[in-house]
Amino acid sequence: MTDAALQFSEDDKIGRVASVDTSRVAIDVANSQLLTRIGIGQLVAIRGATEREYLISMTERVTRTVREELPDFELTGEDGGLLATVPTDLIRAVLIGTFRTVEGAKSNTFKRGADSFPQIDRECFVIEGANLQRFMGILGAGFSEDERLKLGTFVADRSADAIASGDKFFQRHAAILGSTGSGKSWAVALILERAAKLKFPNIIIFDMHGEYAPLADKTRDGFACRFRIAGPGDLEKPGDDVLFLPYWLLNRDEMLSMILDRSDQNAPNQASRFTLHVRTLKAETLDVERRDSVKKTFTVDSPIPYDVKKLVRLLEADNTTKGVGKNGPVKGEWEDKLTRFLSRLEAKLDDRRYGFMFAPPDQAMSYDWLTEQVLKLFASDDRSGIKVIDFSEVPADVLPVVTGTLARLLYDVQFWMSPKDRTPVTLLCDEAHLYLPVRDDADVVQRQALGSFERIAKEGRKYGFSLLVVSQRPSDVSRTILSQCNNFLALRLTNETDQGVIKRLMPDSLAGLTSILPLLDTGEALLLGDAVLLPTRIKLDIPKITPDSATRDFWKEWGTLQPQNHAIQSAIECLRSQTRI
Ligand SMILES: Nc1ncnc2c1ncn2[C@@H]1O[C@H](COP(=O)(O)OP(=O)(O)O)[C@@H](O)[C@H]1O
Ligand SMILES: [Mg+2]
Repeated sequence: MTDAALQFSEDDKIGRVASVDTSRVAIDVANSQLLTRIGIGQLVAIRGATEREYLISMTERVTRTVREELPDFELTGEDGGLLATVPTDLIRAVLIGTFRTVEGAKSNTFKRGADSFPQIDRECFVIEGANLQRFMGILGAGFSEDERLKLGTFVADRSADAIASGDKFFQRHAAILGSTGSGKSWAVALILERAAKLKFPNIIIFDMHGEYAPLADKTRDGFACRFRIAGPGDLEKPGDDVLFLPYWLLNRDEMLSMILDRSDQNAPNQASRFTLHVRTLKAETLDVERRDSVKKTFTVDSPIPYDVKKLVRLLEADNTTKGVGKNGPVKGEWEDKLTRFLSRLEAKLDDRRYGFMFAPPDQAMSYDWLTEQVLKLFASDDRSGIKVIDFSEVPADVLPVVTGTLARLLYDVQFWMSPKDRTPVTLLCDEAHLYLPVRDDADVVQRQALGSFERIAKEGRKYGFSLLVVSQRPSDVSRTILSQCNNFLALRLTNETDQGVIKRLMPDSLAGLTSILPLLDTGEALLLGDAVLLPTRIKLDIPKITPDSATRDFWKEWGTLQPQNHAIQSAIECLRSQTRI
């Protein structure tokens, strides 16, 4: 059979199976010459039950131990008493799949999982050169043309394209993890660039540092739309690209997480009065808008505009109204119980950093405004399917509220869309450790936001809503969310705690592969998950439009640039006014 993709000669033979332990095999190496070329992650074929079948494994550990042996009596004669040192070369490999030269009508097939256990003494061959090239070709060809996502080339063979299933990659959440400078942002730009080639991509990027702005730069052939969250300077005359999240979009729990102090003994009273009044005010709006059918079933959580000043007045009335007793006025039921709640609410209303929420422009108070805003974010027509939302001006303490509320809102809209009209949406969470923290480390507000993302991670798949989580500190990212991810693009990761997280997310059999994580070159990644047939080490392609990394050349700049007094002066004014000019 000359068209078999794997054709081994005597030179490719590395040794024989010495022991088998469920998914792992130990190979006794006979060809020591070949061993010196073998690294972690090398593919080794083990002859299967028939001539046409090979079990494919990946090396996980390569060892040479030296043992001492009595010398051969024949050769050394009677008095040659010295012990001789003999090397024992062993390879430990993980079984990952089965290759068949012929399978039914098909030829050269590869599938995940080993169909049978390798038998002791079976021959093992290193897959390299032309064999590797043909084998990699088979891996990519396994996906149909319209689901292919080309990410780069295989490190083992740079002439073979590394292709993942774009469907599977986005379907059940994915994560891009790696230390700073390992190439995450470039990987994101690359994936977005690939997606932009499709007719109706729908990806919303939470851009924490404004580094994806070039992707929306039309003069550089940018393909994305860009929005930003309103900063204190945008409140007067917001531009078209400015997003608001008026308070009335928040559900009860989101709102209370910001203004209720649960340790206050009056907290239950405060929460119940708040709930009652908000519901009443929303009902009033529905009356004015004549939305009778909505009014029948709406809840306090429904995003319906109401006037927060009226809410304050109602709460103030509660807080000051006396009760009526038999002998004149008595202490009112809510009297003085809402003081602290009111002052916390008013502090938020006055804080200009919260302007995007509590000082929305007039149009953002109208009933139809929400539809317009969501239409912008969900749009996918000519060159607008990739939407970058710039959060770089949002203060850190407000970040969880904004990201959480926005994510929940978008997810809710997708949830309520009729299944037959629904199209898939992905939310790309850059620098996820900033707002998707491990639950134990989270405060009330963060926990509220986290809840929204965790819900998406758990249920999103059913509604065609997925997350692409990007982080340099996987150990600081919610485990619930990471454990729901089915695909990982793991770049260089130097921190041991972070490596441990990835190791635990891997199936047991692949955990050994994570040992190469600290050794990966910039732009190199381990691609794991159901979007690829094999876990593979790939070199990512370079995106056409690269993100702004804002990396400064300290040494060079110290040699040429002097700090400017006027720049410092105006920075201080910006700090005071909380706006950038
Ligand atoms: N695929 C790649 N090929 C070559 N160089 C890359 C690649 N990806 C990133 N780099 C280099 O690494 C630097 C840091 O990449 P970046 O994506 O900003 O890292 P991160 O987001 O992980 O901090 C880039 O400025 C670029 O010089
Ligand atoms: Mg980055």
